[in-house]
Amino acid sequence: MGLPVFPAQRTAADAAGSDPATLAAALMQSRQTILPRRLLAPGPDAKQFGMILGAAASAPDHGQLLPWRFVLVPQAGRARLADVFAGALLARDAQASPAEIAQSREKAHRAPLLMLAVVDADRDDAQIDLSERTVSAGCAIQNMLLMATALGFGSALTSGKALKSAGLRALFGLTDSEHALCFVSIGTACSRKPARLRPVPQDFVSSLCSDGNDRSANPSDFFYSL
Ligand SMILES: Cc1cc2nc3c(=O)[nH]c(=O)nc-3n(C[C@H](O)[C@H](O)[C@H](O)COP(=O)(O)O)c2cc1C
Repeated sequence: MGLPVFPAQRTAADAAGSDPATLAAALMQSRQTILPRRLLAPGPDAKQFGMILGAAASAPDHGQLLPWRFVLVPQAGRARLADVFAGALLARDAQASPAEIAQSREKAHRAPLLMLAVVDADRDDAQIDLSERTVSAGCAIQNMLLMATALGFGSALTSGKALKSAGLRALFGLTDSEHALCFVSIGTACSRKPARLRPVPQDFVSSLCSDGNDRSANPSDFFYSL
């Protein structure tokens, strides 16, 4: 297999001949949310879908609990999901207009590949709490997004109030201990926005110093003061 083509800021030519770290950085930086309405066919083929699912399996998983799973929503299941979205909207707002109901239904039909990400709070080891399990699920999701990006696809995560609705829980057969985290959409990007400004390490890194939790220092200094 050749070098992957990252569709956004970096081109394959930029990445060609790069060392693994440069390649990894280019891949991560080129991932951006492409809203599901901008994700068109073709979606991943069977081999590509296998690679995307395989990427999830590389996520860190404390205790190897496999606390997360993904439920594919094929085209044949989209109408039932649309019913659930419309039902959840009407449960929240009985006065919702026909246009609002139609829009909620339409969301179920976006993107050629649609999956629900689910995490289980209780499966196996009770010592490993929901936050750890959710971190593992997030890693699995990000691995899938990055593989989709490497394969040249656009992707998005979406949430919304319907995730907690009784109708959605019933449709996806969630057990009492399972939580619907978000939908994962993957497809061919018909358009994309300019990349958003990313935070810099100074925005999210601090150092635990003797005099407190210092956020003002340059993170590159931290390493040398360890
Ligand atoms: C769990 C999760 C749920 C999300 N749900 C939505 C959503 O419902 N609608 C939306 O527009 N973006 C959603 N996003 C995407 C974020 O808005 C997006 O990642 C953020 O704006 C950063 O943009 P980027 O992904 O291009 O870096 C979600 C992201 C996460 C992690």
